[in-house]
Amino acid sequence: MASLTRAGSVTVTLDGSNKSASLPLLEGTLGTPVADIRKLYNDLGIFTFDPGYGETASCESKITYIDGDAGVLLYRGYPIEQLAEQSDFVEVCHLLMNGDLPDAAGLAKFRKDVTYHTMVHEQLRRFFDGFRRDAHPMAVLCGVVGAMAAFYHDNLDINDARQREIAAFRLIAKVPTIAAWAYKYSLGQPFIYPRNDLSYAANFLHMLNAVPAEEYKVSPTLEKAMDLILILHADHEQNASTSTVRLAGSTGANPFACIAAGIAALWGPAHGGANEAVLKMLAEIGDAKNIPAFISEVKDKNSHTKLMGFGHRVYKNFDPRAKIMKQACDSVLKELGVTHEPLLEMAVELERIALTDEYFVQRKLYPNVDFYSGIILKAMGIPTSMFTVIFAVARTIGWISQWKELIEDSSQRIGRPRQIYTGADKRDYVPVAGRG
Ligand code: ACO
Repeated sequence: MASLTRAGSVTVTLDGSNKSASLPLLEGTLGTPVADIRKLYNDLGIFTFDPGYGETASCESKITYIDGDAGVLLYRGYPIEQLAEQSDFVEVCHLLMNGDLPDAAGLAKFRKDVTYHTMVHEQLRRFFDGFRRDAHPMAVLCGVVGAMAAFYHDNLDINDARQREIAAFRLIAKVPTIAAWAYKYSLGQPFIYPRNDLSYAANFLHMLNAVPAEEYKVSPTLEKAMDLILILHADHEQNASTSTVRLAGSTGANPFACIAAGIAALWGPAHGGANEAVLKMLAEIGDAKNIPAFISEVKDKNSHTKLMGFGHRVYKNFDPRAKIMKQACDSVLKELGVTHEPLLEMAVELERIALTDEYFVQRKLYPNVDFYSGIILKAMGIPTSMFTVIFAVARTIGWISQWKELIEDSSQRIGRPRQIYTGADKRDYVPVAGRG
C-alpha cells in the first residue's frame, strides 16, 4: 500500500540572519502536501504556532480521507456514498479496523467475533447503580467505558497484537450494550440483554426499546436507518475526539481509558454534542416565523449564538454525510408515515435561508452531519439526550482503529505540543507580610 513520498522541499529563512532550513515536503496518496518541521527547532531555534491545529498534520494515517473543498469522504478509499448504500455497519467496522473489505468467510468470522462479545461482565452492571437517576447518559457512558479497564485485565497489554484485537472487539461489541443500559437506567426500566440472533443495529434498537413484559419486534425501517447512522458516523480522520484518543494512546494508556477520553471530547456541543444542540435550537426557535430573528441573532457578533449543525473545520462545501442524512430523513419520515414534522420543515427553511445569506455564504458554512441526524433520531423515537451517545457508539470503531494504527506506528511518540508563554517574567517570591 502507498505510503509517504518525498515531494521536494520548502526553504525557510529567518529574516535578519543568514540562517535557513530546508523542510522536506511530504505527500501521501491524496491531499495537500505537508512540510516536515521536525528539525525546525534544531536548525533555526523556532517552533510553529497553530492553535486548534488547523494547519498541522499530527500523524500519518491510512484510514479515512476527507477533501473538505470537494465534499469528499473516503473510508479506506471507498466513497461514503457507496458504503452507505451497499455495505452495513459491521462490514464497515472490518474495513476501518483491518484496511480492506473481507471475503464472505472473513466477514462471517468478524460478525461472529463482534456478536459474541456483546455481553458485559455482570459485576459491571452494578456500576450503573452508583449514578444518579437523572445523570446524562453521556456521563454514564464515559464513566462505564473507562471502568472497563477494571473488568477486562486480560487484554490490557497494548504491545500484544492479539490483546489489542480482543480489546477492539470488546469495545465495538459492548459499547452499544452500555449505551442502551445508560438509557434504560435513566428510565428506571430493566436492562435488556444483547440478542445474538439480531443484526448489530437491530440488537442495539432492541436493547434500547424492548421491555421484558412483552415482545418487541424491531422495525426493518428503523434497523436500516440506525445502520446508516452508524456507518455515517464511524470515522472522520483527526477530529477533536479522535485526536484526544490518539493523544491519550500516545502515553501508553489502555484502550478503554483512551476511548473514554474520546467520549468525553465528543460530548462538547462544538463536536458530537451538536446533534442534541440542533434539536434544542429548533425547539427554541419554535416556529418558522421566528427564523429571520434567529438568523439575525446568529449574525450578531455579540450574541455568541451559533447556527448549530452548520459549519465545519474541514468541509468548506457540503458535508457529504449531511446529504445522505437528509435523503434518509425524508425516506424514514415517509416510511414511518410522518407527513408533517414541524422540526424538519423548520430545518429545511433554516437551511434555505442560510445557504443564500451572505454571512454563511462568505464563510462557507454548510450543513454538517448533525443538522439532520437529530431529526431522523427524533422520528425514530430516540430521546434527545441519547443522540450524542449514538454518535459515540458509531465512532467507537473509528477511535479504536485510529488507536490501533497509532500503537502499530513505529514512529509514534508521546503527544506533547509546545506553547507561546505570555505569562509573568521570572520574579522572586515575596512573603505575604511584604506584599501590597
Ligand atoms: N453559526 C454561525 N457562525 C459560524 C458557525 C455557525 N455554526 N460556524 C462558524 N461560524 C463563523 C465564525 O463565527 C467565524 O466567523 P468570523 O470569521 O466572522 O469570526 C467563521 O464562521 C469561521 O468559524 P471558526 O469558528 O473559525 O470555524 P472552526 O473551524 O473553528 O469551527 C465548528 C468549526 C466548531 C464546527 C463551528 O463551525 C461550529 O461551532 N459549528 C456549530 C456546532 C456544530 O455544528 N458542530 C458539529 C461539527 S461536525 C461534528 O463534530 C460531527
